[in-house]
Amino acid sequence: MAVALIILAAGQGTRMNSDLPKVLHKIAGAPLLAHAMQAGWALEPERIIVVAGHGAELVEKAAHAHDDRAEIALQDRQLGTGHAVAQALLLLEGHEGRVIVLFGDTPFIRAETLEKLRDSAADVTVLGFHAADPDRYGRLITEGERLTGIVEYKDANEAERAITLCNSGVLAADRALLADLVGQLSNDNAAGEYYLTDVVGLAARAGRTTAVVTCPESETLGINTRAQLAAAEAAFQARARAGAQENGVTLTAPETVWFGFDTAIGRDAIIGPNVVFGPGVTVESGAEIRAFCDLEGCHISRGATVGPFARLRPGAELAEDVHVGNFVEIKNSVLDEGVKVGHLTYLGDAHVGEHTNIGAGTVTCNYDGVMKHRTEIGARAFIGSDTMLVAPVKVGDDALTASGSVITEDVPAGALAIGRAKQAVKPGLATRLMEKLRAEKARRKKEAI
Ligand code: UD1
Ligand code: CA
Repeated sequence: MAVALIILAAGQGTRMNSDLPKVLHKIAGAPLLAHAMQAGWALEPERIIVVAGHGAELVEKAAHAHDDRAEIALQDRQLGTGHAVAQALLLLEGHEGRVIVLFGDTPFIRAETLEKLRDSAADVTVLGFHAADPDRYGRLITEGERLTGIVEYKDANEAERAITLCNSGVLAADRALLADLVGQLSNDNAAGEYYLTDVVGLAARAGRTTAVVTCPESETLGINTRAQLAAAEAAFQARARAGAQENGVTLTAPETVWFGFDTAIGRDAIIGPNVVFGPGVTVESGAEIRAFCDLEGCHISRGATVGPFARLRPGAELAEDVHVGNFVEIKNSVLDEGVKVGHLTYLGDAHVGEHTNIGAGTVTCNYDGVMKHRTEIGARAFIGSDTMLVAPVKVGDDALTASGSVITEDVPAGALAIGRAKQAVKPGLATRLMEKLRAEKARRKKEAI
């Protein structure tokens, strides 16, 4: 069945007390909006409409960064969730099939739950949950199995407020029916808003079938405050740690490892204490990340070891059995099989051939203040400690650079390059110099008395 997603993200999120639109606050390195979009991907949607209002340009950018197929429906004034859906439906005219409405501030809905909702036979299906503390959620009014309406907290009487079956905000309906129902909404209620939730009562009264699909409350967690954002981060991390362990990953100190929203780690990988994964990291089976590493946008192959204290930035690609040691930073560089970069090194915009050894203190000088340049190092080369590779520059296969060299010209295969001042040795000069200095110090002391 063709599915169109509508993701509501026009609100400011007043209670965040922020200049940033609420849906752009992050969990596990990705905006709330991206989490909601990611959840919706499970349904393989034909169309994805994001309703934007507050900070619309920023919201649009974030939506496109996550999925360039996303379309933006502008809602200039936030007149309610029903009004927001109406703006999205304008773009969906002619769409044959199901529409699923998600909230941009509700990041944790699972694929299985959305599939149940999509596959529900009812004309209008709402995702509900049993709330431990129903607080200000909309209440689902049922008669036996039938859902007859949703009452917003502000409009609810005491008996209705006692109901604990609550509205998550997620809803599924046929596109044409939803457009018809949304067209009938009024804002004659306590908030003076066009409530999307009123489509349920309208459908029930028109003799349409309505249903509730329920899910655990943890999935419907909506973010309204910074405290809830922090709680959501903690919940995400707890699940990610447990998930990694179930998949056969060793976490030496699980509570100190921070995952990105899309971190992927293979079986039998070992992750030491205090490792932080930003977005876009993949670690293959059997690789080891030692303590205190910061990784983002990188790939670590089978058998590789990284850290302690290493930083891998976007575009770092480590082939099998590569070793990256302490105080090494790698950005936009490919390291072929068996490369060793043990200590105190920066590699940026480089390619290093297999089994090459990079000595301590090596720096690819990749930036001239205006442009970035590439460094190409061949296979089985040996880069001596404290080599400065002034890019653009190439070092051939089996070549060697002497320690302390500043390499400004290409080094052919098999060559030895020395780029440093020649050493001079003056016999006895150190002793004579020290004697002279000590005598001078004694003279000054005597003068001062
Ligand atoms: C809504 C539901 C409530 C449910 C709760 C679950 C309605 C009327 N109420 O209430 O039943 O229990 O969510 O969290 O739907 N938005 C727009 N444009 C608008 C208004 C809202 O895009 O004009 C977006 C917001 O940015 C947000 C989402 O819709 O992402 C929900 O809006 P919000 O105002 O938070 O709804 P609640 O009052 O929480
Ligand atoms: Ca809300």
